[in-house]
Amino acid sequence: MIEIVNKWFFIQILFCLMVFGADDLPPTFDKCKRDTNFDKCLVDAVNKALVLLKDGSAEFGVAPLEPLKIKSMSISSGNAPINLKQNFKNVKVNDLISTSTITRYRTKLDKHLIVCDSISKKIEVIADYEISGRILLLPITGHGQANITLIDTKIEHHLIGEPYTKDGVLYNKLKEYKVIFNPKRVYMYFDNLFGDCRLSEAMNRFLNDNWELVFNELKSGYSESFGKVFKEITNKIFTKVPMDTLFPR
Ligand SMILES: *[C@@H]1O[C@H](CO)[C@@H](O)[C@H](O)[C@H]1NC(C)=O
Repeated sequence: MIEIVNKWFFIQILFCLMVFGADDLPPTFDKCKRDTNFDKCLVDAVNKALVLLKDGSAEFGVAPLEPLKIKSMSISSGNAPINLKQNFKNVKVNDLISTSTITRYRTKLDKHLIVCDSISKKIEVIADYEISGRILLLPITGHGQANITLIDTKIEHHLIGEPYTKDGVLYNKLKEYKVIFNPKRVYMYFDNLFGDCRLSEAMNRFLNDNWELVFNELKSGYSESFGKVFKEITNKIFTKVPMDTLFPR
């Protein structure tokens, strides 16, 4: 009996591998040939692909990108005037795909480098937070729900790949995904700071009046967290689809 079950299981797995081997992009995705028009072609192809991936892809093991869920993020800044530790849990990033557009690509595939610019009208981060530290000499502590909303954010993406071969076929895996955020405005709201309603309102007003200073100190932490998530998502596709299939010569 066990053997029959095992065999059946094995056949099913084999079948799944044949059907969902995912060694190519789904036919609904556009592809770009590596010619002089490559960078321009990628802008449209990837913008379209992101819309198709918005609700996730079982085939590639990509979870929905909207809302984008991140289990936890830890962000700290150890430099005066802002000495802060923020822990976020159950992070939900809203509007990331539907308000974002890639505007430009600058690829150097021979150097395994993809650089692109995007603009996001609104990135809303909702999460459980814990915060402690000092901002401009003022102590800050608290835990509760946070809302960090970035408006009109220019993002520069640097995808740094590392080629490898599997069964004689060339793939490219990202070893680094650098993100540089440049928002026009950041709104921050941490409910329940100091566990005190009035102090909380006052501190939130202070944070928003000084948003540029506060965000600039925390920016590299946010960039690192998002870079990690973007890298993981991109690699789900890059490690399944060979380079020459993804970007035909
Ligand atoms: C988060 O903050 C932004 C900017 O203040 C606001 O527009 C939005 O409604 C807030 N979202 C939630 C879920 O409270």
